[in-house]
Amino acid sequence: MKKVRKAVFPVAGLGTRFLPATKAIPKEMLTVVDRPVIQYVVDEAQEAGIDHLIFVTGRNKGVIEDYFDIQVELSNTLAERGKTAELQLLDDLQPKPGTASFTRQQAPLGLGHAIWCARDLVGNEPFAILLPDMIMQAEKGCLAEMVALYEKTGGNVISVEECDPQETNKYGIVGKGGDVGNGFRITGMVEKPKPEDAPSNYSISGRYILQPEIFDILATQEKGAGNEIQLTDGMLKLAESQDFAAYPFTGRTFDCGSKEGFIEANVAFALYRPDIRDKVIGNMERLMQTVKPAE
Ligand code: UTP
Repeated sequence: MKKVRKAVFPVAGLGTRFLPATKAIPKEMLTVVDRPVIQYVVDEAQEAGIDHLIFVTGRNKGVIEDYFDIQVELSNTLAERGKTAELQLLDDLQPKPGTASFTRQQAPLGLGHAIWCARDLVGNEPFAILLPDMIMQAEKGCLAEMVALYEKTGGNVISVEECDPQETNKYGIVGKGGDVGNGFRITGMVEKPKPEDAPSNYSISGRYILQPEIFDILATQEKGAGNEIQLTDGMLKLAESQDFAAYPFTGRTFDCGSKEGFIEANVAFALYRPDIRDKVIGNMERLMQTVKPAE
């Protein structure tokens, strides 16, 4: 069985829900406390043993490439000023030379198309996909758990979360088969079924381990929902010839592509931080008593 060594981060979306901020800043670079959203997701990939990061970028996303590069002037200035802790922090986060690759999607034709753009960089091996605006927080990372499941099942592994059974029509839903390792086998996948037709309430969330055959499928994939080339449609086709298993994630998921999820992530990660936690709680209590909604 081939090891999962590479991860794809599709960062070419327009981020329209965060306009006007995303006119000039990619949504993946918005900060949760003091790190860009993308850093949390890259940390999760590295914890899972991923050693090559592949970013599918687009116009206005050059700052992501800069972020993962060494900023020589900044490092020199920090060294001159004796800021060793800050230097060490940057050093710890720095991908090793040659372990981060970037390719452009050219036009935002959908998530499936963005993944297809990474085909040459991935090559003929299984790979992970992490949706870079979803921060998934747990004691052991979601992708690390998925890699453990993959080592038992091979094939394809996706993360799922239990959704409100009345809201299955908002998500891709999987059918639950027998338990295996820390997950279960998938008996089928349906895109946005009505609650009465849904095979379960396990919805597909933002992490995937897929076999490279997905690329041939995506190459000829017709446009689907939203007039975009959808990854889920490609996976439905792949599931006709290959096995899928699911890892049911039970940690906290923050959808930083939405305003509410992004703000929740900021509050949660501030509360995890012993250096600012008490002050943040005090400030929030005061604000909640005094701030009224705008007219
Ligand atoms: P979303 O639909 O959540 O992202 O896509 P978006 O289009 O950037 O956001 P809104 O809805 O306009 O606010 C899920 C993921 O797929 C990537 C996005 O960057 C996001 O990480 N994506 C989407 C691409 O890389 N290319 C695309 O053409 C579409």
